[in-house]
Amino acid sequence: MNLSAGTVLVIDDNEAVRTAFDVLLSIHGARVLAAATPTEGLSLLGREAVDLVIQDMNFRREATSGEEGVALFHAIRARFPEVPIILLTAWTHLETAVDLVKAGAADYLAKPWDDSRLLTSVRNLLDLRKARAEAQALRAQRTRARESLASEFDLCGIVYESEAMHTLVSTATHIAHADVPVLITGPNGAGKEVLADIIEANSSVHGKPYLKVNLGALPNELMEAELFGTETGAFTGARARTGRFEAADGGTLFLDELGNLSATGQAKLLRVLQTGEFSRLGSNTTRRAKVRVLAATNANLRAAIRDGRFREDLFYRLNVIELEMPALLDRREDIGALARHFLEPGFTLAPDAVDALTRYPWPGNVRELQNTLKRACLLSTDRTINAAALALPAATAPAEETTLDRATIEQALGRAQGVVAQAARELGMSRQALYRRMDKLGLRQPN
Ligand SMILES: Nc1ncnc2c1ncn2[C@@H]1O[C@H](COP(=O)(O)OP(=O)(O)OP(=O)(O)O)[C@@H](O)[C@H]1O
Ligand SMILES: [Mg+2]
Repeated sequence: MNLSAGTVLVIDDNEAVRTAFDVLLSIHGARVLAAATPTEGLSLLGREAVDLVIQDMNFRREATSGEEGVALFHAIRARFPEVPIILLTAWTHLETAVDLVKAGAADYLAKPWDDSRLLTSVRNLLDLRKARAEAQALRAQRTRARESLASEFDLCGIVYESEAMHTLVSTATHIAHADVPVLITGPNGAGKEVLADIIEANSSVHGKPYLKVNLGALPNELMEAELFGTETGAFTGARARTGRFEAADGGTLFLDELGNLSATGQAKLLRVLQTGEFSRLGSNTTRRAKVRVLAATNANLRAAIRDGRFREDLFYRLNVIELEMPALLDRREDIGALARHFLEPGFTLAPDAVDALTRYPWPGNVRELQNTLKRACLLSTDRTINAAALALPAATAPAEETTLDRATIEQALGRAQGVVAQAARELGMSRQALYRRMDKLGLRQPN
């Protein structure tokens, strides 16, 4: 059994006990530090990186009340709240130990202890601590990467924590300068427009006109007039009017919901992309405009091409660079940060709210999350938003094959002190499903 090469501090006045732990834990790969008194123990904790404390409850031969142990426990918790503590206690004082477990002790062992039970407990706690330290290091590394990107580029206030989003945003900033169209795909409310804003903000034409047209919101006849403009008399009541391509000349045009563009609209768009030329409706005069086109769609354009609803040649013109915005469900690590970002000032999230937000599938993605928090802040009588105040729709049948990410599972296991059944309950899945997921992520110890 390998104890992850962790450092264990044993605090016990009895030298025989210290030696026994030293021998037992050292041969299993741990580094063992020993202290005979609470003062010495605390000072070692201040100097050394300790991963686990095993502490006695009495430190003088004549003492049996356990008071010194209780005081030491609270002193360690106050100064080193991250370090797990195993209590060594007499059979006659189990109640105190149970109380301290409620107060955050990781475990307790009655003297004389059972070596194999001790080793199991130590191993589980060291593994958990290692997993947490790794997750934390990863988060810190991502924060650094994000900050370095933000110092170099304008990220337009986008909020994320996930690796997937970091890669996407990083790509967007790096292709921003290229004078080519970009196609942004992804589900409703996932943040496609935010990504378009980032591209524009970091492009060579930033500061020039930046116009947005929602092609889904316009009837076909108006769409072409909107994009290319009209000449007086083009249709009944039509007045001369500048289209968006003309208005965006020299700058950027964001075409939202591209999948809704009519067949003639598609033909005209292809022409202007290929030649830079277009005509207003009701006019034969050729006009020119140089426009960077960013297009977004939540439709599957490849399927639309197969069905003859979208031109393949236009598709290849537009998707020179294709950026795919993942659904929020596929980047659950972003949920917490986004939720806090959307809270009104002065509000906080209760832990059960964070859990509920992390578990909910978010079919409406970031927009739904934003609306949920706006509504909760508006309606909540309490400045701490709890799960009930979020009023999330009851989740559809819990997915047995979960795609929860490593960090979410590790955090749930951490809160459940490694008890899988409890973590599974908290995550709203069966124990078997959680075991399968842990196996897949390599989170389960071979026994
Ligand atoms: N990562 C993010 N950080 C901060 N705000 C975000 C983020 N992603 C989305 N938002 C916000 O969520 C809302 C929806 O985003 P956006 O309009 O960009 O989505 P969309 O993919 O264009 O949606 P649709 O397909 O419905 O047009 C906006 O108010 C946007 O500001
Ligand atoms: Mg949009």
